[in-house]
Amino acid sequence: MKQYLKQDEWRIIEEGFDPDHHKASESIFSLGNGQMGQRANFEEAWSGPTLQGSYIAGVYYPDKTRVGWWKNGYPEYFAKVLNSPNWIGINVTVDGEMLDLFKAQKVDNFERILDMKNGVLSRRFSVILNNGKRLTVKTDRFLSMERPETGVVKYTMTPNEDCKIIFTPYINGDVENEDANYDEKFWNILETNAVLNKADLLCQTKKLDFRVSYAMETELVGAEASEEQPFSDELHSGNHIPVLASKGKEISLTKYVGVANSMNHEKDELLSVARKKASEAKTLGYDTLLKEQIAHWNEIWEHSDIKIKGDIAAQQGIRFNIFHLNQTYTGEDERLNVGPKGFTGEKYGGSTYWDTEAYCIPFFLMTSPQKVVRNLLIYRYKHLRKAIENAEKLGFTNGAALYPMVTMNGEECHNEWEITFEEIHRNGAIAFAIHNYIRHTGDEKYLEEYGLEVLIGIARFWSQRATFSHDKKKFVILGVTGPNEYENNVNNNWYTNKIAQWCLNYAREASEIVKKNNPGRFSEITKKVNMDPPTEMGVWKSVAGNIHLPYNEEEEVFLQQDGFMDKEQIMADELSPSVRPLNQHWSWDRILRSCFIKQADTLQGMYLFEEEFDTETIRRNFKFYEPRTVHESSLSPCVHNILAARIGDLDKAYEMYLRTSRLDIDDYNREVHEGLHITSMAGTWMSIVEGFGGKRVYKDGKLRLYPIIPEQWKEYSFRIRFRRHDLEVRVDQEQVEIISHAKDEATLTLYDKEISIPAGKSVTIPLNIKYHVKK
Ligand code: BGC
Repeated sequence: MKQYLKQDEWRIIEEGFDPDHHKASESIFSLGNGQMGQRANFEEAWSGPTLQGSYIAGVYYPDKTRVGWWKNGYPEYFAKVLNSPNWIGINVTVDGEMLDLFKAQKVDNFERILDMKNGVLSRRFSVILNNGKRLTVKTDRFLSMERPETGVVKYTMTPNEDCKIIFTPYINGDVENEDANYDEKFWNILETNAVLNKADLLCQTKKLDFRVSYAMETELVGAEASEEQPFSDELHSGNHIPVLASKGKEISLTKYVGVANSMNHEKDELLSVARKKASEAKTLGYDTLLKEQIAHWNEIWEHSDIKIKGDIAAQQGIRFNIFHLNQTYTGEDERLNVGPKGFTGEKYGGSTYWDTEAYCIPFFLMTSPQKVVRNLLIYRYKHLRKAIENAEKLGFTNGAALYPMVTMNGEECHNEWEITFEEIHRNGAIAFAIHNYIRHTGDEKYLEEYGLEVLIGIARFWSQRATFSHDKKKFVILGVTGPNEYENNVNNNWYTNKIAQWCLNYAREASEIVKKNNPGRFSEITKKVNMDPPTEMGVWKSVAGNIHLPYNEEEEVFLQQDGFMDKEQIMADELSPSVRPLNQHWSWDRILRSCFIKQADTLQGMYLFEEEFDTETIRRNFKFYEPRTVHESSLSPCVHNILAARIGDLDKAYEMYLRTSRLDIDDYNREVHEGLHITSMAGTWMSIVEGFGGKRVYKDGKLRLYPIIPEQWKEYSFRIRFRRHDLEVRVDQEQVEIISHAKDEATLTLYDKEISIPAGKSVTIPLNIKYHVKK
């Protein structure tokens, strides 16, 4: 754990200059706007440790797969998120000396601030260069949420004696990926141009021919430039802007940037689009762009903010997570998704995992307009053909679909057999997300339009993947990896079998719904996918009805997998802290043979299907599995928080909440320099809304709330969208208040009692201590 950031409700603040923190801060202070994003690299030269990162959503590189033993079915490539040309750069020399904080004589009053309310990143510092020149510097930049192809940097300096400053704003195409299997560079620079106060660059990925154009325009205030020199070479373009600076007088250089890519524009128009964006931005000016940015974020916060009173660390933690989720994915483009590291690092290849369906969708469902999640679902619909091809590669037939573990464009990118071929539960999360969307929005039409085809492909997969055991007289699913990646190739992982069963049943149910609502469309779909409904649905029914769900009679718990009780049963708190995290200290062999669980597995299933289980069953399973869980995936604590709250174990729920909410700010896993855990940030939101807030939507499609509050908090509140409702929920140690912001009357169930709230009105009732059940 590393705690060097100041606590504040709305801002992340780094005070004091320590180059050792720089890489971590580059991740934590990252900016994005859905279309592009970047680590908090400095604008001016920096020769210290850094991970340069500037990313364009959806633009990737299929890097050749590198494995020891090639297995049939492996993908040819692993998609890399690409560090792309750097457009923030502004080099500064003062009387011939380069400003580089790593080399400077002294840096004072250093402050780096991420203003999460308004989406602006700033720095303030004073510096003494090696030639003795002293300056104070202010930098501010943002990626416009309102204009996703626009970014702006304002660089302001005040020297404390007369001097000659040369600003060199530039675009740099000479960039590298830290994560490159063969140390290749991934970009060809096609064109660079520069004229007075303007420059641009057009580049192309070496494979797949993604093209991106960058254009900048500059504006100088506070001094006259003389003898400016536009420059461009094979990899760079920019302007040298010399100015004579006077003692104590502030000079600012603003760099307006347009960034366009070939996913959104014709290739031959890219440069002109980027130039137009830069020029529009300059015409509007910094202040107007900032006003738009503030208004845009204000609107986002109005619907997604969570307020916590009495605990600044928790308040900052949750806002940090909400901020990053919203700047990673804005839901405008169904070709995009939420990578585990978003725009903050290269790890995980920037690709889509089951994290999106299992974690991010619940967040976006309740905080964003409906189209946001619809687009995330359509993303998978568009990949259905590839999922069918993926399954065919593994020997499945008849339109069975296996969605990839990791993907950019629908093709599998993961190449470890125990995950690629075995962590098939991901198919279940994709089907469940469709159901989750429909039960929250009531948009059953989605099934006709897109959903049913996906569900049929997935049901076909499960019905073929399950095989009949003559010994057990049950269908079994052999050789899988559950969500707990600390055991591989196990038989009958309870979670996998449970979700397979659910998918088979839901595919039947969805077929009946479409058949009833729109018989014409139903026959169109069944014809398209070549399905004889009675025959196939009969098979699905029989597999689902007769699937083996392992159970341990002695402990009275669902059994994680057939062989789990053969393992030596030790509790995680018996482990010495010196061996944690296990994955950094133990051999893989030792981990696989141990009973330690990486992340929620059986409990993941109990979370998804909670309404099927009574409190005692949930409690028994929780008490059995949580002590064996080492939470070495950031996706783990939130599920445990929700279930702990459900069984009234508030202390445990709070402990789990703390692990998730400040995971990155406090660098719990000592890896924040690689990037942030964007997808698990949605889990923190779930911890408050579903954990403490007790929000549930079960199969009947009704909204339920069972709020409780940790004793460490005075009050917390959140706002959720549900169908036509827009509700604000405030909980303090005495009471629960629900305010309806929608135009219609809201109906919901609060502590098992149905209530209605007229539009614009609120209801207050005492906190129900029944849900504060003691351990
Ligand atoms: C987790 C997976 C997750 C992946 C990306 C892994 O450590 O075990 O469940 O999908 O990280 O977040």
